[in-house]
Amino acid sequence: MSESAARRLAVVTAGLGEPSSSRMLADLLAEATGRALQEHSVNTGIEVVELREHAHDITNNTLTGFPAPALRAAIDTVTGSDALIAVTPIFNASYSGLFKSFFDVLEPGSLIGKPVLLGATGGSPRHSLALEHALRPLFAYLRAVVVPTAVYAASQDWGTAEHDHGGQGAELTGRVDRAGAELAGLLVGKPAERQPDPYEDLTPFEQLLSRK
Ligand SMILES: Cc1cc2nc3c(=O)[nH]c(=O)nc-3n(C[C@H](O)[C@H](O)[C@H](O)COP(=O)(O)O)c2cc1C
Repeated sequence: MSESAARRLAVVTAGLGEPSSSRMLADLLAEATGRALQEHSVNTGIEVVELREHAHDITNNTLTGFPAPALRAAIDTVTGSDALIAVTPIFNASYSGLFKSFFDVLEPGSLIGKPVLLGATGGSPRHSLALEHALRPLFAYLRAVVVPTAVYAASQDWGTAEHDHGGQGAELTGRVDRAGAELAGLLVGKPAERQPDPYEDLTPFEQLLSRK
């Protein structure tokens, strides 16, 4: 694959809301990946698959073993892509059933070696590790190549991303940019530059207790 060829980026989102925070996060991740690829002089073609539009077909495929034409096209978009961005809302501390069911109807082996960036949205920031204990093992089983940074956006991360350069929005933007750079680096065979340790400025617990 030459570096001048555009990379096909498939974006799968399992959000149900309208507007959907999962779709918003997916779009941010796709844009960040596109910007990072542009820095390597590589163009990006982005195709979005909204799983809510295929929910009935996914259930039917589970029952019959065959995808309807629209679902077939969505599956082909994902399996034929150079990389995948997959975002789910967190339901009951894990990926949603719709998200899992879509990956259950893919042909076995179809994601082997696929570069993947994982994202999730939730109401509570306390469920961010669902990315690590639920999504990452699923994609490890599917033998995809998942980038190190997975991005979680809780309700409190939204509404500030464009305006607040020092608070929650800026933190989300930073994680999105890092994840996008990692996926782009994987696609062009150049690892993303090392980022500073996000925990190096943490206030020591002892200091928090004494309010120094
Ligand atoms: C059935 C259900 C279960 C949920 N469980 C959790 C949960 O365990 N943890 C959490 O942080 N948010 C939970 N939520 C909130 C959703 O994850 C959150 O609203 C999500 O961002 C919605 O995504 P969307 O806007 O893309 O549809 C739950 C929502 C629903 C409907």
